[in-house]
Amino acid sequence: MANLNTQTQDIQPTGPVDLALLVVRRLVNVCSQFCYASHIFFPILIIPMLLTPQPTVLLNSHELEEGHSKGFIINGTNLFVLRHQGNLVAYLNSCPHRKVPLEWLPDQFLNSDKQFIQCATHGALFTIEQGLCISGPCHQESLTNLCVEERGGKVYCTIPRG
Ligand code: FES
Repeated sequence: MANLNTQTQDIQPTGPVDLALLVVRRLVNVCSQFCYASHIFFPILIIPMLLTPQPTVLLNSHELEEGHSKGFIINGTNLFVLRHQGNLVAYLNSCPHRKVPLEWLPDQFLNSDKQFIQCATHGALFTIEQGLCISGPCHQESLTNLCVEERGGKVYCTIPRG
């Protein structure tokens, strides 16, 4: 009967048992090579995943009605999210003019007719969809857009590090 080991010497299968042992030995060799490679590749694969910002739950979907906005400070990042024509948008809560928060009251980021985001400090108006300033001292500058998504009845936002 053939000896099961993981050395690379080949045996010539003379029966079904030898053939089965040969297959097992080859599998063990492949697995051990994979395990060795995984010590090298696992950190290469896992480190970028750990450094990539993950979506954070901001609130339940029903808590953000059409035409409303809500501000958050998460891990020191000041941001806001709003629902406009059924879509969600999120931006850093920082006016490009003076880098100050935009809202004029808590969770109030829109102008009176809810057609634009408005900075409370000098009144700059920004489009809701792109965050582009169309009026004010930071004309043609933009708010910093954040990735926001809605799934499973919750609103998620990917918040940049630092
Ligand atoms: S700080 Fe926003 S317009 Fe000046």
